[in-house]
Amino acid sequence: MSLHGNNATPPAPAIAPGVDEIDPVRFAKELGTRFQGGIDPRVTAIVPGFDAPFFQAGLAGYSDAAMRIIARRLGAPFCVTEALLDRMLLGGGHGFDKADLQLMLDALPQGVEDQPLAGQIIGSDPDEMAAAALKMIEQASRPDRQYRDMAYGDSALPTYTDTRWKVDPAHSGEPQPADAACEDDCTPEALLALVNEQPPETYDPRTVFQNVARHESTQPSSLPGSTTGTSTQTNSAPSLSFATIDVNLACPVKKIDRKSRGGHWLSQPQGALDILRAVRAAVPKDVPCTVKLRRAYDDTPEMASNFEVIFNACYELGYAWTTVHARTVEQKYIGPSRWTFLKDLCDRNRDKIVFGSGDVWSALDIFRMMAYTGVTGVSVARGCIGNPWIFRQARLMIQGHHAPAPTLSEQRAVLLEHFAISHAINGEKAAGRMMRKFGIKFAQHHPEPEKVRSRMIAVESQRDWLSVMDDCYSAS
Ligand SMILES: Cc1cc2nc3c(=O)[nH]c(=O)nc-3n(C[C@H](O)[C@H](O)[C@H](O)COP(=O)(O)O)c2cc1C
Repeated sequence: MSLHGNNATPPAPAIAPGVDEIDPVRFAKELGTRFQGGIDPRVTAIVPGFDAPFFQAGLAGYSDAAMRIIARRLGAPFCVTEALLDRMLLGGGHGFDKADLQLMLDALPQGVEDQPLAGQIIGSDPDEMAAAALKMIEQASRPDRQYRDMAYGDSALPTYTDTRWKVDPAHSGEPQPADAACEDDCTPEALLALVNEQPPETYDPRTVFQNVARHESTQPSSLPGSTTGTSTQTNSAPSLSFATIDVNLACPVKKIDRKSRGGHWLSQPQGALDILRAVRAAVPKDVPCTVKLRRAYDDTPEMASNFEVIFNACYELGYAWTTVHARTVEQKYIGPSRWTFLKDLCDRNRDKIVFGSGDVWSALDIFRMMAYTGVTGVSVARGCIGNPWIFRQARLMIQGHHAPAPTLSEQRAVLLEHFAISHAINGEKAAGRMMRKFGIKFAQHHPEPEKVRSRMIAVESQRDWLSVMDDCYSAS
């Protein structure tokens, strides 16, 4: 089931009078001289490794591990999963697959690359959302029944309300004690001991994830107990986790059984606040939480004021940042994103970290949006489907360099790599289906886009993919 229907609208220029007067190339270069990597250092202090002012958005039906890894190899510093439904996560069995980082790690020959990663959650009930978020962070280290008891039964959710996540502008990003502890001993045994030593409520999954990644990058062997190609999910101690939890209050999904989800909460601020409070309280205090919003449910004054209430509450409740998609929920994906809204919001909230979303179709748009609106950074969504080079181009621009389009041989290399990773993670049949969608988008960079598109539409297997590569992307 897709949570995001009616999204295949053609690129629309955002509502932003005067944006043409901005020189995005110059702005990007200045950004690079103002901040290392062009990113506000508060963001990197909150999520180590998030070192550029843009990220790959959650994109249901696209942004799986394969798409994310390709984006990262080309410069995306941070990615978000697609919105994962709380009930599916709590249901156990296959419902948790998309949040099971061990599954993905086992499938990948290269080790952990997909981090830092935000796990995005969507749902209707505060306790369900909170228990599901905790399960994601703990990577199902407790039996499934326990999480369901937290959501539906008598078991209380752990709470961390006394020490909520705070943004400390003075935070230098220096390694924290937990990081330092692992510098000495990064063997798999030491990492496992680190995890086992600590009770589930107090471990820092972020640190463990980073430590595992560090270990994996120097030693390509698998984690203790893992068997390549099979899941080692045994409800034992967690070994990987998400860097952040992102609460989706934006998706224009239909109401089911008259229950709200995603963007519908923007019309019911009390319900939205209940969810935000429950999730923030249940997620361990050292794991940052963030929120995805739209600019309002619709264009009425009542909904505009609901947005203000929810937006302010996010920060008061200890959420590190919001990402605001400047379309209304009612608008879905039709019509332009209103950058004037983002500009006004950022003008009034200069102290807050706000990421912007909507109508970012190129690397130039990343810097146009930043310069025009004052957002801290940009969420890249449809603009990166079939165009992972957008991240490389943006990084080059921050370094003051020319940002070239990908050559045909670069395209070929990335398309082969994307298929190979998708194959490893999803199996050949699913990879064929998935890559067909990407192939159609990748075709836009080819000198003969129509010809390539029609070949891509017919792809079902690795053989088909390789034959398109040979026929359309070979050097000759
Ligand atoms: C196919 C598709 C799937 C999406 N899935 C998600 C999602 O799972 N989570 C999310 O926060 N946003 C999702 N979005 C919204 C995007 O992240 C983004 O906010 C929106 O597309 C506006 O940006 P754009 O106009 O630059 O594409 C999705 C959008 C599309 C087109």
